[in-house]
Amino acid sequence: MSFSMHQVGPCFAAEVDGIDLTQPLPPPDLAAIHTGMDRYAVLIFHAQRFTDEQQLAFTQSLGKIELAIGTSLRRPEEYRLPPTFADVSNLDRDNKPFARDDRRRLFAIGNRLWHSDSSFKAVPAKYSLLHARSITSKGGNTEFADMRAAYDALDQETKDLIEPLVCEHSQMFSRAKLGFSEFTEEERERFKPVRQRLVRVHPSTGRKSLYLSSHAGSIVGWPDPEAKALLMDLTEAATQREFVYAHKWRVGDLVIWDNRSTMHRARPFPHDEPRDVRRTTLMGDGPTVPQQAT
Ligand SMILES: [Fe+2]
Repeated sequence: MSFSMHQVGPCFAAEVDGIDLTQPLPPPDLAAIHTGMDRYAVLIFHAQRFTDEQQLAFTQSLGKIELAIGTSLRRPEEYRLPPTFADVSNLDRDNKPFARDDRRRLFAIGNRLWHSDSSFKAVPAKYSLLHARSITSKGGNTEFADMRAAYDALDQETKDLIEPLVCEHSQMFSRAKLGFSEFTEEERERFKPVRQRLVRVHPSTGRKSLYLSSHAGSIVGWPDPEAKALLMDLTEAATQREFVYAHKWRVGDLVIWDNRSTMHRARPFPHDEPRDVRRTTLMGDGPTVPQQAT
């Protein structure tokens, strides 16, 4: 391996230097990236001049891609990017920023809440790879929180309490927190809740982590207010500054994070400036409920 990794900020984020991800990588380099992901959970690569094809090829060299179909309020005929990409830009098909009150934009503001990508899918995401093509004049940081360290910091009583719990996740729960609660029948069906364990075991490292996400809106078998209060308490504890790394984007940055062991959130930015960030996503191994039912 010819490149180097060095920690930035908290111990779960590292910058990687001396590697060009636009070119096919030999197996030892790909293995070193996976090892780095297991060690840190967030890796930052600067100055990657990706085309969509190159970003897709690099993503697929790391694993199986997750398609982004039906996960936003963009209708298929409004897609700016192929379904191999999650379009997390603020742009319409004509590359114009959405109007401030555009429903698609308001739905996407849900990304400002702490979450783990695709926790609302039965098989949730493994890695997300987010590449910055253009950024706004200010704001727009992405913040990451380490859910392994957050789990480790819990007292034993709390660990025992949450160990067997299963949550229900839906994009409707995260949007409801922002007062966005009007959905069509078709959207309600599409955004139906799925179940996820609250404590996960990482398949490579064996480390436990809190599987939190603002998409989590209930705990199976618990009264709703009690469940929501516990999830809020855990989220507050897990996102204390000591567990958080804030990434300030530069054009050309690629950031990879492991959704199984981190949460993240977007920070506000001027709504009328283009922000073109393109995400490819790797699929997880399977649903989390049977995965850890041991
Ligand atoms: Fe996200």
